Amino acid sequence: MEWVNVALPKGRLGETVYQMFKQAGYACPSLEQENRKLVFENPKVGVRYFWVKPSDVAIYVERGAADVGVAGKDILLEYTPDVYELADLGVGKCCMCVAAQKGFRDDRGRTLRVATKFPRIARNYYGAITREIDIIKLNGSIELAPLLGLSDVIVDIVETGRTLSENGLEPKESIVKISARFIANKVSYKFKNDAIQCMAQRMAAQAKTEGEGRL
Ligand code: PRP
Repeated sequence: MEWVNVALPKGRLGETVYQMFKQAGYACPSLEQENRKLVFENPKVGVRYFWVKPSDVAIYVERGAADVGVAGKDILLEYTPDVYELADLGVGKCCMCVAAQKGFRDDRGRTLRVATKFPRIARNYYGAITREIDIIKLNGSIELAPLLGLSDVIVDIVETGRTLSENGLEPKESIVKISARFIANKVSYKFKNDAIQCMAQRMAAQAKTEGEGRL
């Protein structure tokens, strides 16, 4: 039997996603034990899991180090990895938004300073509405930028909205809805087609109610 190598995003989303794999028939008892290991396998079902930093899942899958994985749509839009997107899992839902300090009014006569971890998404969004911007690429705590006058607005992920409101910010525009996607390496999809198709179908069936399921 052929192994399917699965890159799981480390953290809360990964725990949820693993439960979906388990329900779908791909349990891995060794993974459920508390430890610091990063690779787990269950020969009975032919699955090997890796815990990967969420933003790195697409890299492992694109380069074939993993056959399949679960990545946020934000990462897929930002890095445009050359992978197949096979199912919307309907979990890890959030929104890519423009946010600013309460009461902020955009002066279209000036270049808008945009702080973000997602320069491509921000550039595409403002390009489509022909708004001149200056991107300030940050790696985290984006909400600080408008507070300290580093930027006028931010383009960032909003889940509950707590981080914004607790920092005196508010969402201004919604750019795109985000959720976790089941992705596959293109070569693996060809050579392990039965196993990957079967996994994609079973995972799509586990997709949380409003998820789109199979793409
Ligand atoms: C994300 C995002 C916001 C926060 C939004 O940060 O960048 O800061 O979550 O969640 P909320 O709307 O529920 O408050 P993340 O946890 O990924 O950490 P980061 O600041 O290091 O990017």
